[in-house]
Amino acid sequence: MEKLKVGIIGAGGISQAAHIPNFQKVEGVEVAGLCDINEEKLNFVSDKFKIPQKFTKWENLIEENLDIIVIASPNVFHKEQAVLSMKNDKHVLCEKPIALTGKEAEEIIKTAEKTGKIFMGAFPQRFASHTYVMKNMIENGEFGDIYYAKASYLRRRGIPGLGGWFTTKRLSGGGPMLDVGVHILDLVIYLMGCPEPKTVIGTTFNKFKNSATDGGWPPSESRIGDKIGKTFDVEDLASGFVQFKNGNSLFIEASWAGNSETGLKVSLFGTKSGAQYSSEEKQQVKIFSEQNGILTDISPILTNVDSYLEEVKHFVECIRKNKEPITKPKEIITVAKIIEALYKSAETKKPVQIDS
Ligand SMILES: NC(=O)c1ccc[n+]([C@@H]2O[C@H](COP(=O)([O-])OP(=O)(O)OC[C@H]3O[C@@H](n4cnc5c(N)ncnc54)[C@H](O)[C@@H]3O)[C@@H](O)[C@H]2O)c1
Repeated sequence: MEKLKVGIIGAGGISQAAHIPNFQKVEGVEVAGLCDINEEKLNFVSDKFKIPQKFTKWENLIEENLDIIVIASPNVFHKEQAVLSMKNDKHVLCEKPIALTGKEAEEIIKTAEKTGKIFMGAFPQRFASHTYVMKNMIENGEFGDIYYAKASYLRRRGIPGLGGWFTTKRLSGGGPMLDVGVHILDLVIYLMGCPEPKTVIGTTFNKFKNSATDGGWPPSESRIGDKIGKTFDVEDLASGFVQFKNGNSLFIEASWAGNSETGLKVSLFGTKSGAQYSSEEKQQVKIFSEQNGILTDISPILTNVDSYLEEVKHFVECIRKNKEPITKPKEIITVAKIIEALYKSAETKKPVQIDS
């Protein structure tokens, strides 16, 4: 088996906590190159993980003799780095959010089709045990038609990298809806079978602007040499309502700060059964159904899965077996279009129609 060589753009929190150690765990894979504009961090991380080649310009990394590029840089760079990496004959695992607009997502997908390279979105929720349980039941027809869903990813005081790229629109493209909301939007779009969105209504708030505190991500050793300013010009809470062309709908909310409960929650309302997943409850998944006229609650037993490791293993398997990754082109484009429309609706204070 020929070794697959990986190059990673961005040596920050997610690369140190997940991508580098996880790729290093997969047999037949070598993390051969790393890139970061922050030289101090680049040196520290490549020494720590013994990565032989280092670059301060991603354009140089993607020209190297590598098979895979992992994109773990600030959001605004994802599209260009993904497109040019594939044009340089590399398979791409791209961090969320994949794209800031539907157009950007379409360009990425078109490039993947043209170049024949594997493109996958990094969505660890796809590999979690609760997702497997719910998707499995859905595919076996046990939910019927899922006509309504609710998804929330709420943090009470959890602003990432306050004053850095996360809270600077020019570099992040947006706040919690793009950062954590995208995880649950991707999850629900996957579970609902990717219905086509028609209309989106959104609102955004920034109520913690003057009292914001840093939420602790990225971890301190991932911040070595980072230059942190004071900008906080994205939302701290966003919510949205999506109507799909088939008449079904979704309510979604995401926050970095708010006086509310915390955690990730998804509710699915199906004609035969419903489900609720809550990261904060012991029985994390509950299935609400009716058997022989009796209302029943079922709590499936979940297994412990390292979803970040499974994500990387799946991506490598797709390359080795030339398989289509779990994140499908239509889902990637749909998620990007919904978030773009949600922000546009919040800005214009009007519902936004999504073209197919
Ligand atoms: N899947 C997840 O659960 C998850 C978790 C955290 C972050 N993320 C995503 O991963 C990406 C990185 O987030 P993070 O938390 O690691 O942030 P981070 O700030 O810790 O790391 C980003 C790194 O990119 C570097 N960088 C900035 N501009 C660059 C450029 N032009 N070229 C190369 N490097 C550049 C920065 O110096 C920094 O070291 C983001 O898109 C974020 O949304 C995903």
